[in-house]
Amino acid sequence: MIYEVEIVTQRKVATGCYRLEMYAPEVAQTAQPGQFLMLKTSITLDPLLRRPFSINTVDRDRGLVKILYRVVGRGTALLAGRKLGRRLSIFGPLGRGFTVPANGRFLVVAGGLGIAPLYFLIQRLKALGNEVVVFYGAQNRFKLLLLEELAAMRVELFTATDNGSSGHKGTVVDLLRTKGIPPADLIYAAGPPPMLKALAALLREAEMPRAEFSLEERMACGAGACRGCAVKVIAEEGPVYKRVCADGPVFLAGEVVWE
Ligand SMILES: Cc1cc2nc3c(=O)[nH]c(=O)nc-3n(C[C@H](O)[C@H](O)[C@H](O)COP(=O)(O)OP(=O)(O)OC[C@H]3O[C@@H](n4cnc5c(N)ncnc54)[C@H](O)[C@@H]3O)c2cc1C
Ligand code: FES
Repeated sequence: MIYEVEIVTQRKVATGCYRLEMYAPEVAQTAQPGQFLMLKTSITLDPLLRRPFSINTVDRDRGLVKILYRVVGRGTALLAGRKLGRRLSIFGPLGRGFTVPANGRFLVVAGGLGIAPLYFLIQRLKALGNEVVVFYGAQNRFKLLLLEELAAMRVELFTATDNGSSGHKGTVVDLLRTKGIPPADLIYAAGPPPMLKALAALLREAEMPRAEFSLEERMACGAGACRGCAVKVIAEEGPVYKRVCADGPVFLAGEVVWE
C-alpha cells in the first residue's frame, strides 16, 4: 500500500546518519521486523525511483514508524533535508521479515547500518521474553548507533570497531571468532555484504547453519515486478535467482550463494 504520511521528527544521530519518525498508523500496526519501506525521497520526480529503508522500530499505540539511515547519495541527501510536518510518500511494509520465536536464546550480529532492521527484531524478541545476545561492529565508536536504547533493553552487548575505539579492535566477525559463538537457537545478521559473507563462512565452519540474514540489493520497484534485485540461492534443482524485495530481504544464510 502507498501512504502519504507526515514526518514527525528527524534527528541527526551521528555524522551523516539520521533517524526519521513518521506518523503511519497502518504500517505501525502491521510491520514485522526485517520488512522495509520504499520511500519517495523528494517531492519532485527527481530522483524518480523510491529508495528502500528497513523499518527501524514502530510504536503501535501512537501510530509511529522510524527509519534509521545514512546519507550515501542524492536520494538520502534529499531525505535528510525534508522538513518536519511535511508529507512523505511511502510504499510498504514490504518483504519477508525475520522469524520471531518465543522462549529461546538468540544471537544478533549487526554491522554498521545493519542495526536498523535488527533493532526492531531485538525489541520484538525481548518483548516475547527471549534472551538476546548482540554482537555489534562499526568503523568507530561514533558509528555504533542506538547503544543507549540497546542498553535499556538489557541485552548482552559486545562491540567491535575497526579502530578499537569501542570494544574489540577488528571486525565483529573477528570478535565472534575470538570469543566463540555463543549458543543460540537461531542467529540473525544484517550488515555490509563482506561481513555477511565472512559470517556465513564462520557459521559453516562452526556447523551452526541456522541463521537468517537480511540482504540488500539496489531496488527499482521494491515489489517483485522488475527482477532488478536478484540474488543467487541454492534450491533443490540447483542455483536459482530470487528477488531480495519479494522473496526476502531475509534469507537463510545457508541458501545464499556468496560470490
Ligand atoms: C531492503 C533494504 C533495506 C535497506 N535499509 C536501509 C536502512 O535501514 N538504512 C540505510 O541507510 N540504508 C538502507 N538501505 C540502503 C538504501 O536503500 C540506500 O542507501 C539508498 O537507496 C541510497 O539512495 P541514494 O539515492 O542516496 O544513493 P544512490 O545515489 O542511489 O547511490 C549512492 C551509493 O550507494 C550505493 N547503494 C545504493 N543503494 C544501495 C543498496 N540497496 N545496497 C547497497 N548499496 C547501495 C550505490 O551503489 C552508490 O554507490 C536498504 C536497502 C535495501 C535493499
Ligand atoms: S526491486 Fe523490482 S523485483 Fe525487486
